[in-house]
Amino acid sequence: MAAIRDKAVVVTGAGGGIGAALARRFAAEGARVVVNDLDEAKARRTAGEIGAIAVPGDASGIVAPAREALGGAIDVFCANAGVGTGGGPDAPEDDWALAWDVNVMAHVRAARELVPEWLARGGGRFVSTVSAAGLLTMVAAAPYSVTKHGAYAFAEWLSLTYRHRGIDVHAICPQGVRTDMLAATGAAGDLVLTPTAVEPEAVADALFAAMDEGRFLVLPHPEVADYYTARASDPDRWLGGMNHIQRELEERSAG
Ligand SMILES: NC(=O)c1ccc[n+]([C@@H]2O[C@H](COP(=O)([O-])OP(=O)(O)OC[C@H]3O[C@@H](n4cnc5c(N)ncnc54)[C@H](O)[C@@H]3O)[C@@H](O)[C@H]2O)c1
Repeated sequence: MAAIRDKAVVVTGAGGGIGAALARRFAAEGARVVVNDLDEAKARRTAGEIGAIAVPGDASGIVAPAREALGGAIDVFCANAGVGTGGGPDAPEDDWALAWDVNVMAHVRAARELVPEWLARGGGRFVSTVSAAGLLTMVAAAPYSVTKHGAYAFAEWLSLTYRHRGIDVHAICPQGVRTDMLAATGAAGDLVLTPTAVEPEAVADALFAAMDEGRFLVLPHPEVADYYTARASDPDRWLGGMNHIQRELEERSAG
């Protein structure tokens, strides 16, 4: 078992949903937890429920204030905050920029501050809440799919670069999870994600199993591994299948 008791843990976007479930689980395992969220009231509510410390604000600027709140070094950083930006190339420039900022650059900025300290101490753990959309691609959501591919690539890069120097990295890639974000995905979410959606606690369970086993890829929906293999081995067949879903979505919205 990865020893969690007394570890200093930060979870971004933990005011609700998956982040709150991760924070709750770390707190239950005896960690000292910082709950971050852009929404101050949500951060304080979750923190109050689990005996954690609330550090509200943008996930991008959270390492220094979280360190201060914890009174020292961060052992585990969960880059979980995300935005579910939909649309295609027609989505406004600001929507693309926000998706890039929260879904990718917040991870890069956190790692920039954490990695030197972790290398000096000989260890640290970076947990990235990506999405199955980072391995596959989500219909009707180009900014989300593109930036989650970026988040996955960044987690891979961190892992392959630092794994021999004591830094553990995990990429969590769920399909639907019953949270506010899923509820806001509309028709595409209803068609693709809701039928197999799991509870946020199942995501925390999957992460803890992966930490125990020292495994990078965390798949709360194990079938995602098969889809990922299918995409890599026969891209045109896979794209045809996804296009079938796209057409079904178009038929539903027309009728
Ligand atoms: N729900 C799903 O089906 C699903 C599936 C795969 C991956 N994910 C990913 O899981 C993560 C958590 O999403 P969720 O489903 O729990 O959604 P959620 O909407 O319940 O929670 C996301 C939280 O992040 C906060 N947030 C947004 N921008 C922020 C910022 N810049 N700084 C700090 N906090 C910010 C929000 O206020 C919100 O409380 C996201 O990265 C999301 O992309 C969700």
